[in-house]
Parts: sequence; structure tokens; C-alpha cells
Amino acid sequence: MDKLLIEGGHRLNGEAEMSGAKNAALPILCAALLTREALTLTNVPQLNDIGTMLKLLAQMGVRVQREGQVVTLDASALDKPVAPYEMVKTMRASILVLGPLLARCGEARVSLPGGCAIGARPVDQHIKGLTAMGADTEVEQGYIVARAQRLKGARLFTDMVTVTGTENLMMAAVLADGETVIENAAREPEVVDLANCLVAMGARISGAGTDVIRIQGVDRLHGATHRIMPDRIETGTYLCAAAASGGEIRLTGTSAGYLDAVIDKLMDAGCDIRTEKSPSFEAIVLKAPDKLKAVSLRTAPYPAFPTDMQAQFMAINTVAEGAAVIRETIFENRFMHAVELARLGADIRIDGNTAFVQGVAALNGATVMATDLRASAGLIIAGLVARGETLIERIYHLDRGYERIEQKLTALGATVRRVS
Ligand code: EPZ
Repeated sequence: MDKLLIEGGHRLNGEAEMSGAKNAALPILCAALLTREALTLTNVPQLNDIGTMLKLLAQMGVRVQREGQVVTLDASALDKPVAPYEMVKTMRASILVLGPLLARCGEARVSLPGGCAIGARPVDQHIKGLTAMGADTEVEQGYIVARAQRLKGARLFTDMVTVTGTENLMMAAVLADGETVIENAAREPEVVDLANCLVAMGARISGAGTDVIRIQGVDRLHGATHRIMPDRIETGTYLCAAAASGGEIRLTGTSAGYLDAVIDKLMDAGCDIRTEKSPSFEAIVLKAPDKLKAVSLRTAPYPAFPTDMQAQFMAINTVAEGAAVIRETIFENRFMHAVELARLGADIRIDGNTAFVQGVAALNGATVMATDLRASAGLIIAGLVARGETLIERIYHLDRGYERIEQKLTALGATVRRVS
């Protein structure tokens, strides 16, 4: 079991290049199932979750070629529309094969993802939408067994905003008979990136990025080449790390356009942030204040403050001036990093889905345990500013969503290394 050893107290300075977005790449890889032609993707991050998804697709009969950040998928020989439990249990996003398999093959057998550390995370909205489009869906021995001659366009309304729910239903709808309207759709930029890729493949979609997405079904999709958008959560994570460490960093290969809520909060905390833009290039430069001011926040669907940045902001608030109130409205159990931060000396009180964080003068290094992907990022930020050494255990969570994190942090001046 790998661990990460961090020596705190170093300001982060310098430059780091951001990677492609994990949460855009995962649904877009599944879009390859919708056509018999090759789909080539560039700027694909090299992450464990991406590797897991490629393995899942390959065992269905999809031919996968990968050269660094370029992935080419050919689903012409797709012959096994099944997502087995052993693979789905390690990555919930596997549920994203359900819609495309139904649309392409008329059948799918996908293991229910089961819960995860941050919540029950049911997929009832995915199933409800597919059923409304004419699919017969049963749950048998922990698997969703779905069949449909040809899905029919329908008017769909999700009970809550669901990112992968919107993505699954959009992919199911592109080959359906007639028009599908998804009301209460997720507006996340990753949904828009998926829609852009599907349109490049010949789909007819309008409204992506708003809460009403219209899809006119077509008979088939063709191949395409698509560049994965930058990872806004990775970007926000490094901005928080620099903010807490008191340094000045420049992040390239990314865009500030998807991070308004996060950048607003970092500016409220006292950071000076500017973007450099040219036709072919965008960078974000952050200069941290000597002492951060505490910032309260409430997570909500895009464009509001993203839940995937909540742990990182809890970490910076532990050493900020003043008190912050953090409300988590998306997941029911996404404060597990709080008790680990308390081991470093943080002053945090949890009351239901609200955390009260009182800034302290300093954190002191200790051994802590990562519980989920973004909690790990919060612990790294705390370790970077704590006095002495912090050892983070179970960092396999990190490797799911942050490409070459030690290398990027080291290049920015951090003292961090992986120990077994
Ligand atoms: C996506 O998860 C992201 N994952 C998550 O990122 C992110 O935290 C989340 O959206 C919210 O932004 C990917 O895109 C692969 P939801 P998803 O469906 O789609 C409830 C990370 O760290 N719900 O938008 O699974 C659900 O329980 C990960 O990269 C239902 O009740 O989240 C939650 O409370 C973590 N029934 C809320 O809706 C459903 O059928 C939002 O979940 C679907 C969702």
C-alpha cells in the first residue's frame, strides 16, 4: 500500500500543466460504444479510473489503442454488452456504459455500482429515464438487466440534478427513435464536452450546458476525433494548494471559464488571480496572501460551488483567519476528511451536512488516512502547510483522479514522495 510523505512549510512557486478532465473522459470513452467506427480521443489523462474504464470496454470486445494521452477505440467487434461486478465495484462511473449499450445493442447487463465512501449514490434516475424511453429493466442478482428493441424519444425529468444520469440518458437518446428532452439536466462542463463529442460523431443535440437538453435521434453515429477538456477540479486543487502554502503559481493547459465559483471564493480568501489568454493558450496565475481569510461555502450543482472542491476548501480554511461554515448539499457523507484534518490539529465541528471550521495558527504533521479521491486532495493541501512531516495512507484513492501528482507538486517546490 503506497503512502505519500509530505514535508510541510514550503511555499509553492512555479508552473504546472493541467491534464484532461477525468469526469469528461469517462463518459466520452463510453460514447465509443455508439458507433462501429473509430473514436480517437486526445488529452486523455493517464489515471487509474481511465485504465479501469478501458479494461471494461476491452472485455466487451472494444479494440483499445493507447499512446500516452491519445486513445483510439473501435467498437465494431463489440459482442459482450456486460459490465461485471468485479470491475464496476472498483469504479462507479462504469454505470455510464448502460445507456450506450442499450442504444447500440438493444441489451445490457450492468452490475449495480453499490455504494461508496461518500454516499449511497443510487442510480434510480438512470433506470427511470431508460424505462421512460421504452427499455425493459430488471434488477437480477445485483445486475441491471435492460432490453429495448429501439429506444423511443421521450420527455425525461430527473428528480435531482445528476451528472452521470444526464450523460447516460443523453447517450441513450442519440440513437433513439424521435426526440428526447431531458429536463432538470446537469449543466456541468463535462456534460457539454460529452455533447460536443457526440455532435462530432453525428448526433443532433441542443441545449447542453443548460437544464433542458434536446436530442433528435439518428440512425447511426460515425467516428470522430475529440480533445478532452481540461480538468477543472485538478486545476482548483492546485490553486488551493498554492493559496494555502503562500506561494505564486501558474497553471497551464487549463481554463478559468469553468471555475468561476471556485475563483470567486479564492479571491474572497485574499488571493490575487489572473488569467492569461491567447487564441491557442490559457493559463491561470494565483498569488497567495500571507494569511488567508476564512471563506464559507455551500456546494450545489454547476455553476454553483462544486462538491468536488469541498474537501480542498475545508483544508485551506483550517489555517485561515477566522471561521468558515461549509455546507455539503450533494452527498450525505462527504466530511470524512474532517476527522483526519483534526489529527493534524484542525478545529472542525460537524453538525449533519454542515462543518464549522475555526482557523488555527498552524497544523502539525501526523499520519492520516485518505478515504476518497477528493478527501485525499484535502489532506495533501493540509500536509503541505503543516509543520513537520505528514504521512498519508491509502493514496490509491489519489491515483484514480490526479495524474503524476507528486511530480507536479515537486516541480512547484513541494517536498513530497511516495513511500511503500
Ligand atoms: C459525478 O458523480 C462525478 N463523477 C462526481 O465526481 C461528482 O462529485 C458528482 O457528479 C457531483 O458533481 C463523474 O462524473 C464520474 P450525481 P455522479 O449523479 O454522477 C443523487 C469525483 O471525485 N442521485 O450528480 O455519480 C446522488 O446520490 C467524483 O471525481 C440519486 O439519488 O453524481 C447524489 O446525492 C465524486 N439517484 C446526487 O444525486 C441517481 O440516479 C448527485 O449525484 C443519481 C444521483
